[in-house]
Amino acid sequence: MKIAMVASEAAPFVKTGGLGDVMQALPAELAKLRGNEICLFLPYYKRIKQNSAIEVEQVGSFSIDLSWRESYVGILRLKSRRKKLQVYFIDNDYYFGARGTIYGDFDDGERFAYFSKAVMAALYYLDFKPDVLHCHDWQAAPAVIYCRALYGTWCPATKTVFTIHNVEYQGWADTSFFENTLGLPEEYRGKLTFDGAINVMKGAIEVADIVTTVSKTYAEELRYPYYAHRLDGVLRGAWLWGITNGIDTSVYNPETDTALAYNYSAKKMFGKWDNKRALREEMGLRTDTDAPVLAMVTRLAGHKGIDLLCYIANRLMEREVQLVVVGTGEKQYEYALSALARQYPGRVAVRLCFDPALASRVYAGADMYLMPSKSEPCGLSQLIAMRYGTVPVVAATGGLRDTVPPYNGQTHEGRGFTFQSYNADDFLGAIDRAVGLYYNDRDQWNALAKHDMECDFSWQAPAAEYMQLYTELTSK
Ligand code: GLC
Repeated sequence: MKIAMVASEAAPFVKTGGLGDVMQALPAELAKLRGNEICLFLPYYKRIKQNSAIEVEQVGSFSIDLSWRESYVGILRLKSRRKKLQVYFIDNDYYFGARGTIYGDFDDGERFAYFSKAVMAALYYLDFKPDVLHCHDWQAAPAVIYCRALYGTWCPATKTVFTIHNVEYQGWADTSFFENTLGLPEEYRGKLTFDGAINVMKGAIEVADIVTTVSKTYAEELRYPYYAHRLDGVLRGAWLWGITNGIDTSVYNPETDTALAYNYSAKKMFGKWDNKRALREEMGLRTDTDAPVLAMVTRLAGHKGIDLLCYIANRLMEREVQLVVVGTGEKQYEYALSALARQYPGRVAVRLCFDPALASRVYAGADMYLMPSKSEPCGLSQLIAMRYGTVPVVAATGGLRDTVPPYNGQTHEGRGFTFQSYNADDFLGAIDRAVGLYYNDRDQWNALAKHDMECDFSWQAPAAEYMQLYTELTSK
């Protein structure tokens, strides 16, 4: 099957969050399956352009119009031996190559409308007529619409899949964006119009052959206003399918991770305790105690539940525990957490940074991983934590609910500790249950950590689900 994937980020080229991980692993996993040919399209950002390790060759150039603008499109291809997975970059200095930003510019709407339209033009230029065009998040949403509106006669059989990784970001714009930038045929205006404005995610939901999201529970939640950021009504009318993400288990592997002082596996768990000691030393935490290390590696954003952590922090520290937090984000949380570290020297360590190697050492060295998200489409850190034998304590929402079934003290089934409603006391209750097991039954605790390490979080099963979906769509 010929599959074109369109997204605004993919590791190892560019990554700001979970989307980047998914776009690294999913295309690669699909390319392993017999008969598949995958093309991945990304913008040629300045930081990719300046990265000498990323070698590209130019395969074509032309210009496209975006309403009244005429813009250059260069198609660059990653030099690679993987013939079944081709990575293409859309080159344009004005929109991408000469700016330091990935997201957050005043004209993001225009930048990604350009990118989406350029991708369709590139597919045409390359004569790669996909069986499936798979677009991710609002930045690639216009490609779904351009495919139908402008390329319907060229690729009438192409099926479109639109995946929502996070419904919070939808691509809102003024009504004039429709004629002034997108330049779509008038009959599409209604599909993109929402609450008196243009919303490109809403347009893609209406036009795509199927909409998917990154966990089963989130697919359910998106039908309710609490989660859907106003799109619940639109999503209730869509064919919405949930496929839970995996992680790249060759990248996230405690047996081979070079960031770790000591490599280990489920069979040789003792290496984990060496990592715990090393982490404590690195972070300036006391080593003369049996206390469990509780950790968070996260963007310090409201919906990640940092407010719950701050609210219970003093009561939490009445327990014999240690806390490590790594991340950057909203200032009020950076201040609150730094103050906490000053208040509890040797027991709380905070690093306000984004550092993948440090993150690995935290996953390896901690006992418990906290993820009290208000909503979580899938969440990848809890999967990484389990892969490193760190037991998750999570809010039972979205992908957290699907991937962390609660531990049952009687049957010993389950993978972690969960709480139902977004409430700080309930969060503390779940931590207490985890800490209780840690202190009262260390054998069971270790068995739980080992069991988590042995779970299969690879992309194999999710990729098979996507294939099944593509096959169902294209055979219609
Ligand atoms: C977004 C979501 C996160 C998900 C990731 C990959 O970042 O917030 O929950 O894991 O996308 O799909």
